[in-house]
Order: sequence, then C-alpha cells, then structure tokens
Amino acid sequence: MDNIGEVLKFLRRKEDFVSGDYISKKLDVSRTAVWKYINHLERYGYTINKSKGKGYMLLKTPDRLYPWEVDRYRNTAILGERIIHQENVDSTNIVAFKLALAGEPEGTCVIAESQNKGKGRLGRKWCSPVEKNIYLSVVARPQVHPSVVYPITFLSSLAVYDTIETLTGEKPTLKWPNDVLMHGRKVCGTLLELSTEADMVRFVIIGIGFNVNMAADELDDEIREKASSLAMETKKLYERALVCGMLLSNLEKYYLRFKQEGEREICRVWEERASIKGKYMAINQIGESYKGIAEGIDNDGAILLNIDGKIKKIIAGDVSF
Ligand code: BTN
Repeated sequence: MDNIGEVLKFLRRKEDFVSGDYISKKLDVSRTAVWKYINHLERYGYTINKSKGKGYMLLKTPDRLYPWEVDRYRNTAILGERIIHQENVDSTNIVAFKLALAGEPEGTCVIAESQNKGKGRLGRKWCSPVEKNIYLSVVARPQVHPSVVYPITFLSSLAVYDTIETLTGEKPTLKWPNDVLMHGRKVCGTLLELSTEADMVRFVIIGIGFNVNMAADELDDEIREKASSLAMETKKLYERALVCGMLLSNLEKYYLRFKQEGEREICRVWEERASIKGKYMAINQIGESYKGIAEGIDNDGAILLNIDGKIKKIIAGDVSF
C-alpha cells in the first residue's frame, strides 16, 4: 500500500480530474495498479469521481488517522516514521508494548480510531470514542538510566501545549505530572509505561490521549465535570490528522532536547510553562493527601511541596488546586 499516499498527492494537486495514464507514468506502475489504488482509497472511505475519459477526481477525504494523512503534517525524522493504524484496539499502549518487546525500533507509533480498554493513570479507564480523538502510543528507546526516565512524561504535555497554542492561539494549563487543561478542564493525559533492566531502560511507551473533537455527551459520566475536548473549548472541529502530525513534530522537538540537554532542562521548561512555583495545592495519593505550596519540580520530575516549612518530595499522585 506504499503508493497510496503518492496517488493521493496527484489527486490533491488540483481540483480537477487527473488521468490514470498520467499517474501510472509518474509512479512507474501499470494502469491496472492505479485502478487498484483508487479502489483501495474508496474502501478507505475516500470519495472519488471516476470518469472513463477524464480519470479521477478526489471529492472527499475521510477524517481518519491513516499514516499517509498524518505524514502530510508530520515534520519528523524519528517519531512516526512507521505508523501502525488500527480501527479498534484494547489499548494502543498494550499494542505498542508488545511490539517493543518484540524489538520494534524507536519512533514507531500505534494509532487507533478507538480503544475498548483505554488505560489512564492510576488504574483508571480512558474514555476512547470512535474517530473523535487521538489515541497514540510512541515507542521510545532513550539510552538513559531508569532514574532519569520520569521527566519523559513532561515531553508529551509540552508537545500538546505547543500544538494547542498554535491551533487556537490560547495557552493551555499544565497540571503535574502530565495533564493538559483548557479553561480548567482536562483535554489530554499521558500514560508512560516502561521496560527496564537494573541499569538501563529497554524502552518507554509514551501513550497520549488527546481529546480533539469529542462532544460533551460522549464523555463518561464520572469525568463529565473535569474533562473536555479541544472542540468543546473552542467551538470548532479540527482535522485530527493535522493535530496528530503537529503533535508528533512537537514531541520529537522535545524528545531531541531531552536527549541533547538532559532531563533537568526538560523539568525546568515544564516548571516554567506550568508556573507551578508558589501555588497552593493538594496532592492526593491512594489513601493519602498532602497540602502545601509547590516549591518546584525536582530534577527527576518529582514535585516538591512545602508543607508547613518542611519540603516533601512527591513522585506520584493527583493534583487539585
Ligand atoms: C491519564 O490518565 O491522564 C493518562 C491517559 C492516557 C491515555 C492514552 S490513550 C493512548 C494510550 N493508550 C492507552 O490505553 N492509554 C494511553
């Protein structure tokens, strides 16, 4: 199916018919092969006007996260070089984890149109309706010690922050450790899953759930008050392939920065963007709640909370302001 993206490029060049003969010559394939590609495109949901004398004209593109659609907007050399697109999976993190265990190289992305066992942090469920949002898991193989891997979780929220700012002109809010909020409601979360050896990281799965076009009535009851989507907050629908391509480009930008400048720099950037210092907050862990003033982010990504003059380092939990 390698040529599908190429065939589409010809169909998109002008809003007119393109002859099968022209495409076949340009791609150096037979007319029958072009005809087959056109049939595949139709099966993938593209609407194409076919005329015996004139050729083919693209009328409508489906809103799907096919690799060749994401590629149009992706400016990356590593992340997304291979995209595995699935209709429905249990969880893209589960699929990516299995692939990584079997040796999948760094950069491969698993993208699904829906998940039936979408996983959130702290054992929660991630609401994953069909063809509305982005459910993306990236295989990363950073050559770092397990102790410095946690700040990778900040890379995705920084990437989503930049993506939202470019798309909407609005600055979202970052909530520790990896939530992205618009107008106080969560639109994106990240679930980092690791495979490590004693002294090294084998791989990291960066699982991103970005609510793009979901409507209020598609939110599960238990998160209705707290969650939202880009569309709900801006009253506009977005082309998900564009959002996904931008997200991967921004993620790679921060991932390279993490590799070159280290985890401390990423923690500093996140801390600054989140303007966390001096904020009064409560951090809830299972069975425990700490209230205090945030002093900042430690070099390993933990939050430093000033509780009545004593600094407590907290690695995991949920923040409420
Ligand atoms: C959170 O609780 O904030 C983290 C949510 C992470 C959800 C994403 S959707 C894609 C990937 N696959 C999963 O099962 N979970 C992550």
